[in-house]
Amino acid sequence: MTFDATDIHKSYHGTEVLKGVSLSVKAGEFVALLGPSGSGKTTLLNIIAGLAHADAGALSFDGEDITRQPAGARHFGMVFQNYALFRHMNVAQNIGFGLKVMDRRHRPPAAEIRRRVAELLEMIELPHLAARFPAQLSGGQRQRVAMARALAIRPRLLLMDEPFSALDAQVRESLRDSVRELQRKAGVGAIMVTHDRAEAWALADRIAVMDHGRIVQFDTPHTLRRQPASEAVRYLVQGVA
Ligand SMILES: Nc1ncnc2c1ncn2[C@@H]1O[C@H](COP(=O)(O)OP(=O)(O)OP(=O)(O)O)[C@@H](O)[C@H]1O
Ligand SMILES: [Mg+2]
Repeated sequence: MTFDATDIHKSYHGTEVLKGVSLSVKAGEFVALLGPSGSGKTTLLNIIAGLAHADAGALSFDGEDITRQPAGARHFGMVFQNYALFRHMNVAQNIGFGLKVMDRRHRPPAAEIRRRVAELLEMIELPHLAARFPAQLSGGQRQRVAMARALAIRPRLLLMDEPFSALDAQVRESLRDSVRELQRKAGVGAIMVTHDRAEAWALADRIAVMDHGRIVQFDTPHTLRRQPASEAVRYLVQGVA
């Protein structure tokens, strides 16, 4: 599996917010998009997801051009900042939702959907809460359900926009590890947006440092620390273990 975004440009009302961004993800790789507020992280993730369109540039998956492919056809899993679960569905129904709404050609039989939901409930260690509704869960539990929901469709790529931002520091740290483990178990490539450098450090194989609509360095945490490409990067990685 390889995903490539090449020379992506995007403007809003005449202001260029992505100025030629290129990014790649290899099989099983965890990539963090790290940068200050307004640097273009969410815009880039939305373009990768197919929720927004680039003005110029290309997206490809395993060599296939997906630049103009609709979001639903990309088969990517998404976890958003507020991990909005469906309030009127219980945990199991939330996790199975993406499978139930697949078109008939791709939708697994009902028994297979039940089996997969049960497997994911085990994976997030919440099988005892299958019948609970989102309002009856803690923030961390909701976040794990959102992860399971994104993984249920067996996505080709997992996209997460600040998935821990609504959680307090302690819960964030314990969830980091379980997210990494879930992603590894699923063997899927991932892109996670964060403005928290410690989080990027703890999770990512490679970190794309964004600043003012550009990726100013895309390297392993080790290389970023040893050979920051600029003062801005040096500043950003300062103080990280
Ligand atoms: N739909 C939109 N219309 C107009 N401007 C937008 C739109 N979406 C984003 N922008 C602008 O594009 C720039 C990049 O926004 P983006 O949301 O990608 O930043 P970000 O890096 O995700 O920031 P944050 O860390 O605060 O979430 C910002 O200046 C923002 O105001
Ligand atoms: Mg954002």
